[in-house]
Amino acid sequence: MASATYNHRKYQPVEPVTGFTRTWPDRQVTEAPIWASVDLRDGNQALLEPMNVAQKQRLWHLLVKLGIKEIEVGFPSASQPDYDFTRWLIEENQIPDDVSIQVLVQAREELIAKTFEALKGVNKAVVHVYNSTSRIQRERVFGMGRDEIKDIAVRGARWVKEYAEKYPETDWTFQYSPESFTSTEVDYAVEVCDAVMDVWQPTPEKRCILNLPTTVEVGPPNHFADQVEYFCQHLNRRDSAIISVHTHNDRGGAVASAELALMAGADRVEGTLLGNGERTGNMDIVTLAINLYSQGVDPQLDLSNPDEIIQTCTECTGLPIHPRHPWIGELVYTAFSGSHQDAIRKSLKQQQSDEPWQVAYLPIDPTDLGRDYQAVIRVNSQSGKGGMTFLLERDFGISIPRWLQLELAPIVQQTSEQQGGELDSQIIHDLLIQHFVQDKAPVSMEGYRIERAGDNETLAASIRVEGLEQSIEGKGKGAMAAFINAWQARTGLDIHVVDYAEHAMGEGSDVAAAAYVQLNVAGQRVSGMAVDADTVSASLKAVVSGLNRSGTATQTVSVDQAQQA
Ligand code: KIV
Ligand code: ZN
Repeated sequence: MASATYNHRKYQPVEPVTGFTRTWPDRQVTEAPIWASVDLRDGNQALLEPMNVAQKQRLWHLLVKLGIKEIEVGFPSASQPDYDFTRWLIEENQIPDDVSIQVLVQAREELIAKTFEALKGVNKAVVHVYNSTSRIQRERVFGMGRDEIKDIAVRGARWVKEYAEKYPETDWTFQYSPESFTSTEVDYAVEVCDAVMDVWQPTPEKRCILNLPTTVEVGPPNHFADQVEYFCQHLNRRDSAIISVHTHNDRGGAVASAELALMAGADRVEGTLLGNGERTGNMDIVTLAINLYSQGVDPQLDLSNPDEIIQTCTECTGLPIHPRHPWIGELVYTAFSGSHQDAIRKSLKQQQSDEPWQVAYLPIDPTDLGRDYQAVIRVNSQSGKGGMTFLLERDFGISIPRWLQLELAPIVQQTSEQQGGELDSQIIHDLLIQHFVQDKAPVSMEGYRIERAGDNETLAASIRVEGLEQSIEGKGKGAMAAFINAWQARTGLDIHVVDYAEHAMGEGSDVAAAAYVQLNVAGQRVSGMAVDADTVSASLKAVVSGLNRSGTATQTVSVDQAQQA
C-alpha cells in the first residue's frame, strides 16, 4: 500500500521561462567548454568521510593530468584541512602555470579575509563568492526581501574586490554564484548579478565568472537551458562575464542540463569526475566530455585511460562506480543480447580505419578508452548466434556457416543455462568440437589418393571402421563427391550434400583449414566439421564427421542390395 504521504499533488511544476527568444534548440556544441572541477570542494564536502591530505593530493594530481585548468580546491575559511591543502599547493609549488586554483567563500567579511590569507603568494586564483537567492531561501530561511539578499551579494563582491587589492601580486579572477539559481526568479537573478558586476567592473579583457547552479535540480534540462539563455540575453554586460553552470543531479539530468546550457550560451562547466557531490551528485565531467567527444568535438581533456580515473576516484572517495556508468562502466561495451551481438560483429567486420565510426550498438570505439573488444561480447543464455560466432572468429579463426550457427546456438544456450552464467570462448569452442567434429570413431579416414580424368576424380581412401582398416573407392566431380559415392556404394544409403563451406584458419601458407558440411543421409540432415592441414583432407573428414554423427557410418550394404548392384 502507498504511504500516507505519497501524493503528487503536493508538488508544482516549474514555471515556464518567458520574455526571451529561445534559440538554443537549434544550436550545436562545437567546442569544449572551460572545465572547472569541484571534486576537492563540493565532491569532498559530500563524503561521509572527507578525503585526507594524501587523497586530496592524489586527486589533485589526476585532475591536473587530465587537463583541467580550473580546480576548486576547497573552502579554506570554513575548513582547516582545506586551508592547509591550499597552503600546501602554494608553498610546495604544486600548481602548474596554466592551472588556476579556485576557492569558495560565503559573502561574509571575516571569511573573505581568511580566504585571501589562505591564497597569499599564489600566482593566480579564482575567488568564488556566493549567497542564496531563491524565493524559498529568502522567505523561509533568511526571512529577507529581494533587496536585502541582493545587498548580501553586493557587499560580498565589494569585500572580495577590496581584499584582492591588498594582494596585487596575484592575478585574481572573481566568481559569483546566485546559489539556488534554478529556484530563483530569473529576472531577479539577472538583477543580482548585474549589481555584482557593477561592483567588480569587469571588462571583455578581464572577465568575471557568473556561475549559475542547479543547486537543487528542480526542473527538466530544457527549462534550465531556457533560464540560462534568458540570463545571457538580459545581463547588462554579457561580454564581460564568463557564464558558468554548476549542475546537480537530483532528477538525473545534471549532464543533460549542462549540455543544453552550453547550447544556450554557457562558456564554462563545473562538475566532478564520475559525478560525486551533494545528494545525487554533481555533473559528471567524464560523461559530458565523452558526450562531446562522441560528437566529434575535442573535449580538451585526456580521458583515454578511464581505468586510472576510476581507480583514483574510487580510492579517494570510497565510492564505487556503477558497472553501467555512461561510457566507462565495466559493462558498457558488453552486449548480452544475441541480435545486438550479431549487429556488432557484422559492423565491426566492415568498419574501416579511415572512415567515420559506424558500428551498431557501440556509439564510440571502446579502444579509444583503453577498452578492447574482449569485453564487447559475452555469451550467456540470452545470447543468440552472434556472440558465439564472434568469439569463435576472434579467438580461434573459426567462421562457422549460418546453418551450423543455428545448430550450435541451442547447445551453447543449454550449457549456459546449466552452468548458470556466462560462457567464455574456450567453452564455446570445446562445445563446437565436441558436437560436430567426430571424425575418429566409429569411422576414421586414414589416407586417400586422387586421380583426375577430365572433370571426374577417382578417389581411393583407406578408412578404419571400428578399428579395422578397409579401402573404398568412388568416382565423382571433386574429391568429396567421389568419397560420398564410394560411401553410398558401401552402405546403400542415399546421401546428398546440402551445404558446404571451408576456410583457412588465419593467414599464410601453412595455416590449417576448417571444413563444414551439411549432409542429407537417408532423409535426415546432419552436419559435420573437421580441421586439417589441407583443405581436401578437411572436407573429407568433415563428411566422415557427418556420417559418424548420423549413426549410419558402420552400416554396410545388404547382400540383396549388393546382388542388385
Ligand atoms: O550547488 C551549489 O549551488 C554550489 C554553489 C556553492 C555553487 O555548490
Ligand atoms: Zn554544488
